[in-house]
Amino acid sequence: MEAAPIYHVKPDLAASAVINAARHRLMSNHAITDADGFWQEEAGRIDWIRPPQLADNSSFDGDVRISWFSDGILNVSVNCLDRHLDLHGDRDALIWQGEAEDDSRILTYRQLHAEVCRLANALRGLGIRKGDRVAIYLPMVAEGAIAMLACARIGAVHVVMFAGFSASGIADRLGDCGAKLVITADEGRRAGKRVPLKATIDEALALASGGSAGAGKPIAPHTVEHVLVLRLTGGNVAMQRKRDLDYAEAVRGQPARCEPEPMGAEDPLLLLYTSGSTGKPKGLLHTTAGYLLWARFTHEAVFDYRPGEVFWCTADIGWVTGHSYVVYGPLANAGTTLMFEGTPSWPEPGRWWRLIDKYKVASFYTAPTAIRSMMRDDPGFLAATSRKSLRVLGSVGEPINPEAWLWYYHEVGGERCAVVDTWWQTETGGIMIAPLPGAIAQKPGSATLPLPGVVPVLVDEKGQVLEGEAEGHLCISRSWPGQARTIWGDHARYVQTYFTTYPGSYFTGDGARRDGDGYYWITGRVDDVINVSGHRIGSAEVEAALDHHDQVAEAAVVGVPHDIKGQALFAFVVLKGKEAAPGYEAELARHVGQMLGRYAAPDTVLLVPDLPKTRSGKIMRRILRKIATRDTAELGDTTTLADPAVVQDLIRRMEERS
Ligand code: WT7
Repeated sequence: MEAAPIYHVKPDLAASAVINAARHRLMSNHAITDADGFWQEEAGRIDWIRPPQLADNSSFDGDVRISWFSDGILNVSVNCLDRHLDLHGDRDALIWQGEAEDDSRILTYRQLHAEVCRLANALRGLGIRKGDRVAIYLPMVAEGAIAMLACARIGAVHVVMFAGFSASGIADRLGDCGAKLVITADEGRRAGKRVPLKATIDEALALASGGSAGAGKPIAPHTVEHVLVLRLTGGNVAMQRKRDLDYAEAVRGQPARCEPEPMGAEDPLLLLYTSGSTGKPKGLLHTTAGYLLWARFTHEAVFDYRPGEVFWCTADIGWVTGHSYVVYGPLANAGTTLMFEGTPSWPEPGRWWRLIDKYKVASFYTAPTAIRSMMRDDPGFLAATSRKSLRVLGSVGEPINPEAWLWYYHEVGGERCAVVDTWWQTETGGIMIAPLPGAIAQKPGSATLPLPGVVPVLVDEKGQVLEGEAEGHLCISRSWPGQARTIWGDHARYVQTYFTTYPGSYFTGDGARRDGDGYYWITGRVDDVINVSGHRIGSAEVEAALDHHDQVAEAAVVGVPHDIKGQALFAFVVLKGKEAAPGYEAELARHVGQMLGRYAAPDTVLLVPDLPKTRSGKIMRRILRKIATRDTAELGDTTTLADPAVVQDLIRRMEERS
């Protein structure tokens, strides 16, 4: 293999970095030789009501227990707000930019603190107590962050649901987590259009009131008592008496102070639903101290963040990236976080670049899919901006192809900025593998080296640990504070999903290669999870949605490479009837969009008479992947195939399509 080009650490970044190469070596050593001591030191950088004596008390064996700082007591909202008030009360905490250019709002730490307290008081007034689950279904508005922090203040567990989820997706999640209250808005705004939110919640609640999503798919009854409705667009929405309340009215007159709930380090902070290779989405649980510590530590280390700088992570708060790097990381570091309601190319391309100049953004953090789509747009939009405030450019969500990396580095960053390709997952709480700007040389396409205290291992199919240069399945061999503790309500599934493939190690579901410098190159998922535009989609979920359509007999979904999205969904569908009306493929894609949300609608639907199966009846996805990508010269082992004619037929159909 050709040696990858190396981009060395910039001397100016190294000279002023929070972590330079020497310090990085020191920290990495310390974290291994005296892990408890190292993490106690990190724990000292957050505020405790009662500091912990214990550090790591986790075990990856048997029933698996993840536990950090368990005798400590603290409150996350105090760490993100109160503790900055004395010195930085007037610093901008949250800059919100609306989709309309003249629609913006800046909240200082003092103002954000007051807003959070008012809502927290209102929630308490509605009977929300420590441990209760509160669902948040909001677009990218300041109230999203305010709602998360208000929950944290009173010890309620927030469950943010991406505003792109459909009613039945929400109904599932509301039932699973047993939410007592939902915070939503009348409508969202997207590319000049309005997106119904309250109506979707109404529909979800109706579905989860003994209704079903059709075809007898059971939905757990919901436990929602109230819905708080933020008036954003003023659109007309139905309000159910007693159940539905106006957000503004609920917070009006509430005191701007609110006694924070003292939380145990291992008390639940948040749930985030994510897709796996099988079954329904799983609610991953993050707890109070470990998650906060990880968000704070990684945000400072990976972005070389200095308070006062404007930090912009473009992720939606509905995903973990938005949690850790729009809200918790930057605010725990007394930072200024920018939150943007809009999309990168509306009303015209180049919006993001103009916002970087408008707010003098120092760190910009986005996904390869967005980078690629902006690369495709007229380069004139980029050239019309200076972007000279930038120091660090981050990438997350999927492997970044060297071409996009190089464009990011040369064109967006003007060769002055460090590019940090950050590998992590919903399960890890925050960044795990990434080049630190002042310490680690970059290679385009590699997430480089683990953060101090993170111990990746590569294992082969048989579970043998691979040393040195190698390619295998990526596992992490010891716990770190930000690790998800369990799957809500189903610890057995947690153990089964992450700790049985390679006993004694956390299995990430990703494949990776380690080069001669010890750098990691993530090669993508090795399970049936498909990564579309940085969104994680379980093929099983999309198949279940297709199966659910009354004309579908059977379906199989695979991921295929896509220029912009990274991967796209390709669905093979067998219908019950023989003849399908023209355009039926689009109807099936729309159906999935309705069931799961538009982001999960297959890009391609191919109607086929049969699917390739093993003699024991298992669908052979490996072969379908080859057929979908027209890479059928070498099909690999087909000896277990029940009927080879099925494969030949599918290949012919693909040929007919082009
Ligand atoms: C999966 C996790 C991490 C927050 C956003 C997604 C893929 C993530 C990278 C990267 C290659 C990456 C992995 C991972 N992934 N970052 N820098 N290089 N792949 O969180 O939805 O939990 O998805 O995203 O496959 O397992 P998520």
